[in-house]
Amino acid sequence: MDIRERLKDYSTKSKNTKSTSLKTITFNGITLDLSRNFISKDIMSKMKSLLTINKFSEKRKRLFTNKLISNTESQQVSFIYYRNNQMYDKDIHKMSKFYLQIKQNKIKSCDGNKINTIVHIGIGGSILGPKFLSEALEDFKKNEFATYFVSSGDDDEISDLTKNIDIKHTLFIFASKSFKTDETIRIKLFIDNYIRKHHAKYADYIYKNQFVAISSNSLECKKHNFVSKNIFTFPKTIPGRFSIASPVTLINMFEVGIENYQKFVNGIRSMDSHFFKTKFESNLPINLALINIWNINNLSKYGNIIVPYSYRLRNISNYIQQIEMESNGKSITNNSNSTLNKTAPILFGTSGTECQHSFFQAAHQGTLNLYFDFIYVRQLRTNSKRFLSANVHAQADLLFKGKKTKYLHKSLNGNSPSVLVSLDRISPDRIGKIISLYEHKVFTEGVIWNINSYDQWGVEEGKILAKKNLSKI
Ligand code: F6P
Repeated sequence: MDIRERLKDYSTKSKNTKSTSLKTITFNGITLDLSRNFISKDIMSKMKSLLTINKFSEKRKRLFTNKLISNTESQQVSFIYYRNNQMYDKDIHKMSKFYLQIKQNKIKSCDGNKINTIVHIGIGGSILGPKFLSEALEDFKKNEFATYFVSSGDDDEISDLTKNIDIKHTLFIFASKSFKTDETIRIKLFIDNYIRKHHAKYADYIYKNQFVAISSNSLECKKHNFVSKNIFTFPKTIPGRFSIASPVTLINMFEVGIENYQKFVNGIRSMDSHFFKTKFESNLPINLALINIWNINNLSKYGNIIVPYSYRLRNISNYIQQIEMESNGKSITNNSNSTLNKTAPILFGTSGTECQHSFFQAAHQGTLNLYFDFIYVRQLRTNSKRFLSANVHAQADLLFKGKKTKYLHKSLNGNSPSVLVSLDRISPDRIGKIISLYEHKVFTEGVIWNINSYDQWGVEEGKILAKKNLSKI
């Protein structure tokens, strides 16, 4: 189906209706202000047929009942079913028991003292979620442990960290769905060697008691000498980038405690339920997805800039970048045809106040065709609220409307639509909700583009060739 043709048709048919612009929709503290978009209510309701044509409700039901299949992998897509099910509750129980044993020093460090530091090692979906959560929930931390994140596989990163932590009192969490990812295994080998060299006396104890693996591949974990009691598994039918609601976020429980962790989970579950049950007009993920489809497939805007006006949410752009671009960065449809449509946009961003003093010049006066998600918090613990709110609205208005002045070089283009995604406050519940919101937006886009949002074959060849190159140099 050529979506562009359909959208053009909706737009033509809508011309003669005095349709109003879109307003805001809210669910439980999360609000989407859709008013800065070049789309009318009438066109939006016509776009509903894109969902019907692609059997959206049926596919959504399959997703929630563990019947959605990733056809190129011939396996279910289970992340929604798993996290709204007892399976996750059982895993949370196991995570909580382990957290309490470490917290209460029932599991001691190699010299009998308390473990006071946690290092989480992983890459992609095995770190972007936990790291974002760690920064977003800074104000909910119990400060019982110092926590660190390592991902790159470049020895400098882990080597710098080993100089700043007390290895003897550190718990190392190695997160990898496959447990075959080179970067993560390289870091493990570095730490293994470092401990053998600098703490030989304690090495065996540390490997057996202060090394934890989180994976879908427990066999591979055992090959790397992890002991069973320290292996936390999750189903392999959960795509890595959608594993934030699983043992992959064990470190976040160590940071914010069991109760806050459960509030985060409840936030995710409530937005899942909103997405599943709420009618089209007031369904946040569906509306966010359709706005994106309109911007990409009708207005040819292939750059989606995610701009959080919140220091706590500064890394949300990286998190959303993976779930969007690794999910919908596809050009082959579920019918194995080359798609007629543009799919995932270039998506990037960083904290708003940083952006407005750097690349926003190009956004305001360049030749790019962009659209924005501005994310901000309406109630803050600090007195930055007025400053951040003033700036996010200034940028959103000027990017949308532009500004003509008598000097061309001072005029602003405008023509850049945006959605203002606001949270009434930052809390474990609200962060859970916003994560689920973007995950379901990605699902909805994938259904309309008729692509498989849950495989990622495109990243495999690079790994194979890198191994070949490595064997030659
Ligand atoms: O190479 C891409 C990828 O497989 C992502 O899908 C995944 O999130 C990341 O690498 C890390 O993979 P793993 O969790 O298996 O180490």
